[in-house]
Amino acid sequence: MSRRRQIYEGKAKILYEGPEPGTLIQYFKDDATAFNAQKKGTISGKGVLNNRISEHIFTLLGTIGVPHHFIRRLNMREQLVRQVEIIPLEVVVRNVAAGSLSKRLGIEEGTPLPRTILEYYLKDDSLGDPLVTEEHIAAFGWCGQDELADMQDMAIRINDFLSGLFAGVGIRLVDFKLEFGRLWEDDYARVILADEISPDGCRLWDMASGEKLDKDRFRRDLGGEVEAYQEVARRLGLLPEGSANSVVNLDSARKARDAR
Ligand code: TMP
Repeated sequence: MSRRRQIYEGKAKILYEGPEPGTLIQYFKDDATAFNAQKKGTISGKGVLNNRISEHIFTLLGTIGVPHHFIRRLNMREQLVRQVEIIPLEVVVRNVAAGSLSKRLGIEEGTPLPRTILEYYLKDDSLGDPLVTEEHIAAFGWCGQDELADMQDMAIRINDFLSGLFAGVGIRLVDFKLEFGRLWEDDYARVILADEISPDGCRLWDMASGEKLDKDRFRRDLGGEVEAYQEVARRLGLLPEGSANSVVNLDSARKARDAR
C-alpha cells in the first residue's frame, strides 16, 4: 500500500486521504469486532466481500435517487468516496425483532414488527453507543431537525428498496444500520448516505432455512462467517454461481471448524 495519509481508523475500515480534495479512500479490513470491541477477531476475506457488496448496494441506491458518498471501487479492498462530516448517529432500521431490541423488550427473535422501527444510537465508543431518542438529538444538537427528517426519509426508502432486493434472492432483511454525513457545498450542507452497507451491519436471514447470513455468525460464535458473506454476494450476483457454499453447507462449515 502506498504511503497515503491516514485520516481515521475504525474497527472494520481505514480512511485515507483521496487523490482529489473532498475525496477519501475507504479501505475494508478483515477485522471484526462485537459488543463495543470487547470481542475481536478476523474474518479472512471479509473486507473484499464487504467492499464489493457495499459498492453494489450503494450503486443501486444511487439509481433510485438516494444521495450517497460512494464514487467508485478502486480495487479489491478500496473504494473512492466523497469526504463528508459524519453525523454522530447510527440509524438502525428494524423490520423483525432481533438483537438488542429483543433483549431490551423481551420480544422473541424473529417476531415480525407491527411497523418498521427506526432507532438512533449515539456514536460514542466510550459510552458503548447508547440508544438515544429524538428528544436527545434535538436537545444536544447532534443534527438539525431537517437533517433528522432527511435521514428518516432516506432510511425508509432504503429499507423499502433493500427489503425487496433481498427478498428477491430469498433473504429476509431483519434489520440494518446506516450512517449519514454532511456534504458541504459552499455554505450549505446536504445529508447523504455514508459508511457501508454489508453483512457487518445488517441482519440477513435465509428465508427458507432461517440461517443467519451476517455478522451474528461472528457475534454468536456460529462459525461459517466467510461462507455466509460469500453466499450473500453470490445471491446478489457478485460471485459466479457455484463459487460459494450453499446455505445448506453452512452447517457443515461450522461442524468442520468445530472439529478442528
Ligand atoms: P442490535 O440489535 O445489536 O442493536 O443491532 C441492530 C443492527 O445494527 C444489526 O443489523 C447490526 C447493526 N449494528 C451495527 O452495524 N453496528 C453496531 O455497533 C451495532 C450495535 C449494531
